[in-house]
Amino acid sequence: MAVAQPTSPISVPDYVKNQRLRAWVEEMAALCQPDQVHWCDGSQEEYDRLCEEMVQSGTFIRLNPEKRPHSFLARSDPSDVARMEDRTFICSLRQQDAGPTNNWMDPAEMKATLNTLFDGCMRGRTMYVIPFSMGPLGSPIAHIGVELSDSPYVATNMRIMTRMGRAVLDILGENGFFVPCMHSVGVPLAPGQKDVAWPCNKETRYIVHFPEERSIWSYGSGYGGNALLGKKCFALRIASVLARDEGWLAEHMLILGVKSPTGEKTYVTAAFPSACGKTNFAMLIPPKALSDWTITTVGDDIAWIKPGPDGSLYAINPEKGMFGVAPGTSESSNPNAMATITENTIFTNVALTPDGDVWWEGMTKTPPPQLTDWLGQPWTPDSGRKAAHPNARFTAPIEQCPVLDPDWDNPRGVKVEAFMFGGRRSSVVPLVYQAFNWAYGVYSASTLGSETTAAAAGAVGEVRRDPMAMLPFCGYHMGDYFNHWFQFGRGLPNPPRIFFVNWFRKDDDGKFLWPGFGENMRILKWVVERAHGRAASIEGPLGWMPRYEDLDWKGMEGFDRDTFQDLMSVDRDDWLKEVLAHEELCIKLYDNLPKELLFIRQLLTSGLWRSAEHWELTSAG
Ligand code: GTP
Ligand code: SPV
Ligand code: MN
Repeated sequence: MAVAQPTSPISVPDYVKNQRLRAWVEEMAALCQPDQVHWCDGSQEEYDRLCEEMVQSGTFIRLNPEKRPHSFLARSDPSDVARMEDRTFICSLRQQDAGPTNNWMDPAEMKATLNTLFDGCMRGRTMYVIPFSMGPLGSPIAHIGVELSDSPYVATNMRIMTRMGRAVLDILGENGFFVPCMHSVGVPLAPGQKDVAWPCNKETRYIVHFPEERSIWSYGSGYGGNALLGKKCFALRIASVLARDEGWLAEHMLILGVKSPTGEKTYVTAAFPSACGKTNFAMLIPPKALSDWTITTVGDDIAWIKPGPDGSLYAINPEKGMFGVAPGTSESSNPNAMATITENTIFTNVALTPDGDVWWEGMTKTPPPQLTDWLGQPWTPDSGRKAAHPNARFTAPIEQCPVLDPDWDNPRGVKVEAFMFGGRRSSVVPLVYQAFNWAYGVYSASTLGSETTAAAAGAVGEVRRDPMAMLPFCGYHMGDYFNHWFQFGRGLPNPPRIFFVNWFRKDDDGKFLWPGFGENMRILKWVVERAHGRAASIEGPLGWMPRYEDLDWKGMEGFDRDTFQDLMSVDRDDWLKEVLAHEELCIKLYDNLPKELLFIRQLLTSGLWRSAEHWELTSAG
């Protein structure tokens, strides 16, 4: 029997068996009034055709096939370059459930607003139906979503970032559950009206989550987390609500594997805020002297973590691609990332070289003499402005990562034995410490501070509290989220150890005290050894801390004890101020705040009042 192809905008192909999906697409097509509806099958042919169409329309520039095969450059509208936290809403039924760190609007009121905005919003465009699985197809940990978008840029990026296409519909079956994700750039076209290269609505933008209904509506932006709805909207904001209800964790964490010289394999997750080093750390290359240690990548941005029947924790990466920060990525800082993006990559807002390749700040020591910048303007090194936008990104298949972990796609996940948390702090916070116990760890992660970056619109470089690196991504009340973490640990017979790192501490001249990147292996080695109860440490005021002699300095002998002391120092006055910032957060969240946080703050303060000699790290111990 021949499969009927959609002829009118709202005819649904026969192979779509899920009744809720059929009805929803019909309803949304009637609302948005696209010229056509295209059901994405996820094939290479479809991807190639969409890319070619975008080359024709000016959205994509095909890069030089000799230098960067099957790769494209997109330049966004200058107003649409990052996540917009002030336009992001959690529309729970009760405002109380969104909490004070999320924007909230009454869901009925928001729906009325959205229904007006989406009415006819896809006129003159194609609506792409994008079925996707977050997590390995059919894995018990995975969840399915369907995004409806009028952006072919979104459709192609979603094919790289998720398991996307017809196979997902087969798994969904007649009655399977999916998260409906509505997306429009919010610029309908009048008959004959010519489109622009990056359509977006400059006046009106909404990124909206309905946590009880488990649905997402995004309007007006085509960029990153605002538009690729499987990522932050689903895999973090909606998934965090599912995780709370079902007893698991959905976190802004990379997942990596560490193999020791003896062959012992340990998986570690690490939560750092946006543009604070997850992609780099996830594919770290150990320095030569530690090359008998091997690092493999499971994920670089999001982890879904569930307790297994053995009482251990198992993590999957719900994504299938990387949407990584381009600036700063180079052969010296991250060769594995450079290898990942040699082909089949979509670049957004980087600079274009005269021979059709890409460039960004930090890619090479000396910039090329001539470029076309991310705005499409001629650029030279003395133009006095950046050639790439600071939040320029690459979208690349994770399978192209040369150090991909053999179990990255394992539907059961990988066993997690340590949690790391970190932020970007040019002062105050030491290089590394281990929390005394689970409760102390949850406290320190809950009160984590970090300097803001270009990953979100707004001021850059301001310290703010970013609990668990989830401030912009938690789909419910942050106090309830802390409670969930405490409760989660109480349910584990032997919860993973919790560690804190700060690669970004600077000296008085504003220079990084720590070389970072591959050298982070020295810290990771200590973390892994500690997770197995081996490496030595002393009791510092914040937690267990390595002394100079507790770390492996092989091949880095020039790094002296004094610099290490500066990196590890915990200044009492600075930290008493830090504790006041913790208190501010606690006051903000007072209505749902777990009582543990108050008591641990007292213990922390008491520890800070100990005599300073007790944590003199350079002493013989
Ligand atoms: P999102 O994708 O936004 O969630 O961010 P991410 O955490 O994956 O960020 P990424 O790894 O792309 O970090 C980007 C920035 O951090 C770049 O400017 C890097 O140069 C810088 N960076 C990463 N690792 C280190 C490090 O060890 N030391 C220093 N000083 N900078 C680092
Ligand atoms: C982040 O901002 O943390 C990102 C990029 O990973 S985006 O997908 O745009 O949110
Ligand atoms: Mn991220």
